[in-house]
Amino acid sequence: MLFEQVRSGGCLSYLIGCEDTRAGMLVDPALDQVDRYLALASERGIRIHYVVETHTHADHFSAARELGRTIGARIVMHRMSAAPFVDVRVDDGESLICGRLRMRVLHTPGHTEDSTCLVLDDRVLTGDTLLIGATGRTDLPTGDPEALHESLFGKLLRLDDATQVFPAHDYKGRTSTTIGAEKAANPRLQRKERAAFVELMRGLDLAMPEHLSEALRTNRSGGKTVSQLMAEAARGLPFMGLEELRERLEHGRCDLLLLDVRERDQFEKGHLPGARHIPRGQLELRVDKELPDPTLRILVYCQFGKISTLAAATLRTMGYMRAVALDGGFDAWTKAGYPLDGGASA
Ligand SMILES: [Fe+2]
Repeated sequence: MLFEQVRSGGCLSYLIGCEDTRAGMLVDPALDQVDRYLALASERGIRIHYVVETHTHADHFSAARELGRTIGARIVMHRMSAAPFVDVRVDDGESLICGRLRMRVLHTPGHTEDSTCLVLDDRVLTGDTLLIGATGRTDLPTGDPEALHESLFGKLLRLDDATQVFPAHDYKGRTSTTIGAEKAANPRLQRKERAAFVELMRGLDLAMPEHLSEALRTNRSGGKTVSQLMAEAARGLPFMGLEELRERLEHGRCDLLLLDVRERDQFEKGHLPGARHIPRGQLELRVDKELPDPTLRILVYCQFGKISTLAAATLRTMGYMRAVALDGGFDAWTKAGYPLDGGASA
């Protein structure tokens, strides 16, 4: 078995392949690591057939949908998963065959109702059901401490003590543990009695993960994250730096039409020298009338350089083939002390 653990902060993903056939699977991939997984798979000579999610993640953005789309891998999740894009829904006791590998699914609800652990030979990928020295939390949507107690003591911990454990998270740089080591030393597993375990889990009082709503929105629906929208817009677009633009304005050789897409009150308080104004919300409807020449060299800017990226991409889509975005925004321009028109700062 080819087995690679890929760390991204506290999130752990796994690339697993059959040595004979080179068929492989990717478990719990994170969206910001897609290039890395594909590079690693190609370096190891593995073709990814399955992208397996141990559960619906609330704390990071899954790459399952993206990888399903780009490399045609089948997305595998427990049948309880809310995600509509899952190709193969699995349930307790079923195995997926990948080359000569057999991956057996244990349904281990508790952290979420769709949580699974994946058994491969001498090891188990435990998702967020069992972590090194901890367990997954049970206070997020579909979490249930009683179910987690049953999943741990009634199922997962019955695996052989020598079974290696690879979790979906570890924030202290550790890579793996064993069932036996966790049974002996994991503080939460010392509360074997159901009521005591449930009381412990209910009393944890953990902070909500950052981006919780966005992670659940995108991971459950297959929709895009905000940074995905930005990256896709940026991919088809050139940018101009603040310094480059300042020099062009200073030397009177600026052939760009500066387009401010912020709200009217922001524009009126001050804007880049000579800028025109069409707010982002009215851009598509007003642009033909206000900028009838699609060959214009338009430089779009906004407050922080994000909305302008989307707006410039929209202009390109509409046929303004020379539209570019400012690399930075009005905020950075002002902080750099560069010239302005209008408002108090003029
Ligand atoms: Fe999780």
